[in-house]
Amino acid sequence: MKKIQVITLFPEMFDGVLNASMLWKAQEQKAVEFRMVNLRDFGLGPRKRVDDTPYGGGDGMLLMPEPLFAAVKDAKTYDPTAKVVIMTPRGQRWKQSLAQEWSDSETGYIFICGRYEGYDERILTVVDEQVSVGDYVLTGGELPAMTIIDSIVRLIPGVLGGENSAAIESFSDGETLEFPQYTKPADFKGMKVPEVLLSGNHAQIAKWRENNSAKVEK
Ligand code: ADE
Repeated sequence: MKKIQVITLFPEMFDGVLNASMLWKAQEQKAVEFRMVNLRDFGLGPRKRVDDTPYGGGDGMLLMPEPLFAAVKDAKTYDPTAKVVIMTPRGQRWKQSLAQEWSDSETGYIFICGRYEGYDERILTVVDEQVSVGDYVLTGGELPAMTIIDSIVRLIPGVLGGENSAAIESFSDGETLEFPQYTKPADFKGMKVPEVLLSGNHAQIAKWRENNSAKVEK
């Protein structure tokens, strides 16, 4: 069973996403186990402080090293061989082939979600991977972490329901995204389903789908 932990100041943000649909099913099937680590629990002093101003000046607050290191240590106690991943727009761009690799691997993952203006750079000494979901800046790493978790978990064998869902979405070479699909009715307010899909000619249907698929680089 894949272990996925998330270090975040906002664990409640994950409730809806992890406890619905496919990700919920994956937990029920014991394909994956999620554990939230609330960074606040490792905050300093009676007010459980987690952030401070940057040396050298500048706007905003940074996540301090002590709570972050303590949270990673806690997560590692639970899963000693887990890889530590930090969400940052400076990281390598997430892509389907990485989702496949991380889904296939036996290791667990610990996702650190940054907040505020960033984090103390020294946390990188315990980080294995820096990952970005795109060239834009979000207010925290939570949405990127959810995106990445979803893309990994749905690829765990047995999680995707359909007999041939994997084949549908990529012609098994991982380079092709989905083709357009239609369900009943064949004519909806004059908008007709392409004739070939109604034909029952499997070779022609396969050709049509290939011609109408979006290609992505691996
Ligand atoms: N945190 C803020 N923006 C991000 C992005 N684009 N990718 C990953 N983590 C982020």
